[in-house]
Amino acid sequence: MRSRFAAAAVVTVVVIGAFYSALRAQQARSVWDGVYTEEQAKRGAVLFDLECAGCHGPAGEGGGMPPALVGGAFTANYDGQTVGDLFERNRTTMPVGKEGQLSAQTIAEITAFLLQCNEFPAGAAELSSQAMMLKTIRFVAEKP
Ligand code: HEC
Repeated sequence: MRSRFAAAAVVTVVVIGAFYSALRAQQARSVWDGVYTEEQAKRGAVLFDLECAGCHGPAGEGGGMPPALVGGAFTANYDGQTVGDLFERNRTTMPVGKEGQLSAQTIAEITAFLLQCNEFPAGAAELSSQAMMLKTIRFVAEKP
């Protein structure tokens, strides 16, 4: 009886340990770890052109009032936040005049495009359109 209890305790500890290391691995992910795909950014570029470029410029360079979405001043604004924060900013406050009207999928593709414009590398898996997942990807302006 006692040994069965001990075995169960060991299994529990191992399972909990695996769970936490998986969680930690996910939390450690940043924009430098290839968090979107080339294809996704390409689709995002088309959507950006349609929904955002009119104000922010064709390559997100900004235009008077609407700020640049590329470059050091932009990435500094999100440094230390998460991709989820940028996603939520895009989803709930943009496009001006149509706030909150684009689907989460559309916003994810546009966000992937913005990551590419800011020279964060593409990877093998697409950027999620779930805010909860995106909150686990840290936005780090400078390459570590
Ligand atoms: C009608 C013009 C207009 C359109 C269309 C528009 N924006 Fe904006 N955007 C602005 C203005 C003006 C600001 C600055 C004021 C503010 O922050 O709300 C801004 C600010 C932003 C910011 C904040 C930048 C920072 O440094 O924090 C982001 C991100 C952004 N826009 C993304 C987008 C995206 C993505 C789209 C397309 C889905 C889009 N915008 C469409 C006018 C626009």
